[in-house]
Order: sequence, then structure tokens, then C-alpha cells
Amino acid sequence: MIRSKIGGIGYYVPETVVTNDDLSKVMETSDEWIQERTGIRERRYGTKHKETTTSMGARAAEVAIQRAGISKEDVDFIIFATLSPDYYFPGCGVLLQRELGITHKEAAALDIRNQCSGFLYGLSIADQFVRSGMYKNVLLVGSEMHSMGLDFSTRGRNVTVIFGDGAGAVVVQPSEKEGQGILTTKLHSDGTYAEKLAFINPGAHGGYHLDKMEEEYDFGYDYDQKYGEIFITDKMLKDGQIFPNMEGQFVFKMAVQKFPEVINEALDEVGLSTKDIDMLIPHQANLRISQFVQKRLGLTDEQVWNNIQKFGNTTAASVPIAFCEAWEAGKIKEGDLVCLAAFGSGFTWGSALIRW
Ligand code: UT7
Repeated sequence: MIRSKIGGIGYYVPETVVTNDDLSKVMETSDEWIQERTGIRERRYGTKHKETTTSMGARAAEVAIQRAGISKEDVDFIIFATLSPDYYFPGCGVLLQRELGITHKEAAALDIRNQCSGFLYGLSIADQFVRSGMYKNVLLVGSEMHSMGLDFSTRGRNVTVIFGDGAGAVVVQPSEKEGQGILTTKLHSDGTYAEKLAFINPGAHGGYHLDKMEEEYDFGYDYDQKYGEIFITDKMLKDGQIFPNMEGQFVFKMAVQKFPEVINEALDEVGLSTKDIDMLIPHQANLRISQFVQKRLGLTDEQVWNNIQKFGNTTAASVPIAFCEAWEAGKIKEGDLVCLAAFGSGFTWGSALIRW
């Protein structure tokens, strides 16, 4: 049976560095609080009017395509994962296709809305398409322009200080070498706690889900309005109900449980153990989560790659950025076992094992 491999990998982060001290000038926070709770020192923000989620994804994709030894026209399928798309619709997949100039008539594009685990879901889809023989060069991109949609008042500080902008991309191709490539991918979801980490407005919920939640939420829906002005209400704008919200401690507790679970599930399936992992690349949600997972799995510092200190949490982009950085640093060599894992909003989570 054909196995798939990562034929090329690239990443792009915007130039502008935003430190914790920079944020403490616009909201009540401090470098000490942010570093102690998250490990983050700084993050990058894209330049408005010059960069978008799509354009950053395109820059990362160009590097991945070149390293895969193919041309843009060889890309037969695009998968784009993001929670901060340029438009509500259409998705970034077709915008990226246009930006890269992929014009051949067999091309197709798919958008994924799986937040922090979007790259893992995308990798699994790419793997299935390549293994089935349907596609030969699947371009998978994870990109986020969070800085355009965060609450920069003190009200939003628990979420805003965490996130950064950036993009990562891979080209998934058939593997020619026996034993090399993606060994397995594991995906999971549980919608029970969908609103614990969510960006609810604007949306077409019209108040529907709110009745079904345990807690009393007020997301600014105007129940008296018959038509119109229910997608974005004046109240939503006035009360700042158009930003992401998170119950941080709840999410943290779920994350530290699900990361080790889904990593062990993948290892068990292919008959390997944590001792066999050469490099674990966890989604960069919080350095404290990564450290907890590392300890739980009994891994050394050399076996885990973290870069949240420099880039913050870049959601769908965090795994491919960290993966690419580790590879560029020479920490991933031929034959190494690489483990990717992510957990986030949904909740959705997943893992992948790759023999490099
Ligand atoms: O990537 C997707 C998955 N996401 C995650 O995995 C994130 C998981 N959660 C976390 O990383 C952490 O929960 C946070 C870093 C988001 C928050 O840390 P925490 O230790 O859970 O803080 P908290 O939300 O419980 O808040 C503790 C205190 C509160 O003040 P009071 O009520 O104790 O007076 C907050 O208002 O810290 C306050 N606070 C802040 N203070 C300064 C919250 N955010 C900030 C801030 N600066 N940025």
C-alpha cells in the first residue's frame, strides 16, 4: 500500500514583534503574569492592509512547495486550516489558490474549521487522499491573523495575550521509501463544551444554542428583532461580544488529559512507546501545558520542541511552524520518529506519528 510523507515544509511569521510590555501599555497585564502563566515573551502581528491569513499562508506554502521539489501547478489539492479567515465566506483555500496562481482545471480546495487541531485534521485528510491514490501533491496550510480579531481592552486580556499571527505549510506526497512517512493519525472531538473556548459572534445561531447551555450566557442576541440585525447586533458591538472567549482553567485541565491520551493511542496502534519518540511537537497552547505533557510522558527537553516563547499561540499554524523550525534547526533527521499532537476549541484533538 502507498504511504504518504511530508515532501516539503515551510513557515512564515510577520516581522512586527509585540512584547508583553507592549501589551501592558494597552491593557492591565504584565510581563511577569504572562511569562509565569504561559511562558510567552513575545508574539508577531501581521501588518493590516498588507498581510492577511491567506497571504501569510501563501508565503509559507511557497517555501514548502519549493522544498518539495515541485512547482505550484503540480499542487492538485489545497487544504487550508484557520479560525481567522479573511472572509466569512468563501474560505481561504480558494483565496490561497488565487494568490499562488494555481489555475489548472483539476485543482480543488478545502477549508477546515478545527481551530488548534486544524493542522492535524488536515494532515489526516491529506494522508487519506494520497494513500488512496487520488492526489499526489496535497498542499496543507495552517495560518492565523489573530491580531485582527482580539479584544485589546483589559476585558479580553486572558485570551488576547496568548495569541499570535503566523503560518505553516507542508506538501504531502506519496513516499517512495519503505517504512518512511505518516504511520498513523488519530482524531477526536467532543462538542459538549463547544462554548468554553469559542468565537460566537457574528454567527447565525440566533440564540438557539444558548438555551441548551448549562450557564446563563448573554451573547448579545436581540430576541425582539424579527428580521435583520441579528447576525451582528448593536449590543454585541457595544458590549464587545464579538471577540473570542475562553474558560482558561477548564480548557487547561482538558488539554493536559487529552494530549497524553491521544499520543499514547497513536503509539499503541503502531506498537511503539514514548521511548521511541525522537521529537514531540505539541500544539503551542501554553508552555505549562507542554511541560506537563512532557513530564507525564517521561520525555527529555531534547525530545520536545517549544517555540511559544517567541510566537505565542498561533492555533492552526502552531504545529507546522514548530515542526519546520525543529527541522531547520537540524533536530529532525532521516529515520526519526516525529510525534505531532494538538488540542483545542470544539473540543477537537488529534495526533500523528511520522517516520521522517
Ligand atoms: O490553544 C487552544 C487551547 N487553549 C488552551 O489550552 C489555554 C488553556 N488555558 C490557559 O492557558 C490558562 O488558563 C490562561 C493562560 C488562559 C489563564 O491562566 P490562569 O492561570 O488559568 O488564569 P485565570 O484565567 O484563572 O485568571 C486568574 C487571574 C484572574 O484574576 P482574579 O479573578 O484572580 O483577580 C484574571 O482576571 O488572572 C487574571 N488575568 C490576568 N491578569 C493579568 C487573566 N488574564 C490576565 C492577564 N494579565 N493577561
